[in-house]
Amino acid sequence: MNRHEEIKNAYKNLGGDATFYDGMITCSTLLGKAVCKLVWNMDKRKNDHYLELALSGIPNDFSGKMLEVPVGTGVLSMPVYETMPGADIICLDYSPNMMERAKRQAEKRGLRNVRFMQGDVGKLPFEDESFDLVLSLNGFHAFPDKDAAYSEIFRVLKSGGIFCGCFYVKGENKRTDVLVDKIYTPKGYFTPPYETAGSLRERLNAMYRKAEVKTVEGMAAFRCRKGKENAEG
Ligand SMILES: C[S@@+](CC[C@H](N)C(=O)[O-])C[C@H]1O[C@@H](n2cnc3c(N)ncnc32)[C@H](O)[C@@H]1O
Repeated sequence: MNRHEEIKNAYKNLGGDATFYDGMITCSTLLGKAVCKLVWNMDKRKNDHYLELALSGIPNDFSGKMLEVPVGTGVLSMPVYETMPGADIICLDYSPNMMERAKRQAEKRGLRNVRFMQGDVGKLPFEDESFDLVLSLNGFHAFPDKDAAYSEIFRVLKSGGIFCGCFYVKGENKRTDVLVDKIYTPKGYFTPPYETAGSLRERLNAMYRKAEVKTVEGMAAFRCRKGKENAEG
């Protein structure tokens, strides 16, 4: 079985147990809070903080074309999309099981501007320069081919477009690093090699402009813009 399929199977189970996954990623259920504390040394306030930093890359009143990859269960982004009726949003994920829940969330919230696609971030089925913004929450620590993911996202972004999101970086919290190495990686939830905050900063600065990277424990939130220094923003 290749790494893509291993990851899909790992997330198949998590997608099926969406309540557990959603509680953990939002640090809101009892079990979710315990995982946040144990693995990430985060309480609800810290967890909300890194997510706010990641989502703050989306401008107020954004009304352009946007790609979210990977959408997962949509627990983090569907509430935000409810406040963005003018945006044209495509959500993509490799795992249909994770995305099933996101689709239900979108239907429940009556989101008419959100579409879903199963696919691989390493081979995005879009033309060059298709999107004004790409959001990637908790994806890059999972993607099997990170170079392909970085280059595909860059390719589909318009000049002046925003790339923002968050993911795990090593070197910020020792316990997180050990648990990622001993549990998350063998289980297929995460795939090495992992960035450090410094390597991420360097990488984004080499590809984009105005790259900002902030960490909350082992999570890095980032935003940057594609294009020339004199472009707007
Ligand atoms: C930790 S979840 C994050 C989901 C969501 N953004 C969140 O924060 O809750 C990682 C997701 O990455 C997806 N994924 C892994 N490899 C992928 C790939 N090559 N292309 C697209 N999605 C992928 C998995 O299916 C899973 O849903």
